[in-house]
Amino acid sequence: IRDDPTAVGSYIANYICKRINDFGPTAEKPFVLGLPTGSSPIPTYKALIKLVKEGKLSFKNVVTFNMDEYVGLPRDHTESYHTFMFREFFSHSKSPFDIPPSQVNILDGNAEDLIAECNAYEKRIKGYGGIELFLGGIGEDGHIAFNEPGSSLASRTRIKTLAYDTILANARFFNNDISAVPRMALTVGVATVLDSREVVVVVTGQRKALALSKAIGTSQPDCTSATKADQSCFILTEEGVNHLWTLSALQLHPWALIVVDEDATAEL
Ligand code: GLP
Repeated sequence: IRDDPTAVGSYIANYICKRINDFGPTAEKPFVLGLPTGSSPIPTYKALIKLVKEGKLSFKNVVTFNMDEYVGLPRDHTESYHTFMFREFFSHSKSPFDIPPSQVNILDGNAEDLIAECNAYEKRIKGYGGIELFLGGIGEDGHIAFNEPGSSLASRTRIKTLAYDTILANARFFNNDISAVPRMALTVGVATVLDSREVVVVVTGQRKALALSKAIGTSQPDCTSATKADQSCFILTEEGVNHLWTLSALQLHPWALIVVDEDATAEL
């Protein structure tokens, strides 16, 4: 738990920086990094760009795989995840360590054969020996990538119809015009995320508080404690793994880290 989104971003960026540097990626064995979109990872991207500019981090031998992309939105649309990634991250890391575009992988939501596109994506990930670290964000309904409530925990990269809540939440990026939000997306599956050697999730803001508590659990003051007045004694009520809150699948992962700000802990 960190104070605010900026502190969360800088914690995660330093964490990723250390992982990449300890890994010592080479052209033969690159560091494979999964990346999200949305407003939550923006402070992390800003902090990573700073580290690159300071010469503390290089993306030269990093291969990236984005989590998801809208179906049918032109690639150069301002709200396509392709445009987002270059605007918020890849185009900023200009330095001798700039990431070569050939090492950036983003699902093509305009592919002629969407199923083949999804299958090829999974194959490409496997071809690199899997994802080393998947950075993710979540929706208000607890979705990770676009794994909407009800997604199979065994799901792989596929076409997904967006939940109405997600369409409503994302309308803010489309001038609040619900009809402009795409109805479908391509997304890595829950199992694709779980296959990564490590998963780091950023959760900030009070509107994510319910989802966080559904994925982890809640705590209440321990009224049975001898020190009744001691509000620092809490009983944790664990939540189970639940495909209606797909973030909860991280409980099945041996090495998962959720970094949150104070606001997101409101329901814990
Ligand atoms: C979309 C993306 C998710 C992202 C979520 C949260 O639904 N598909 O991957 O986690 O938005 O966005 P924000 O961080 O803006 O709340």
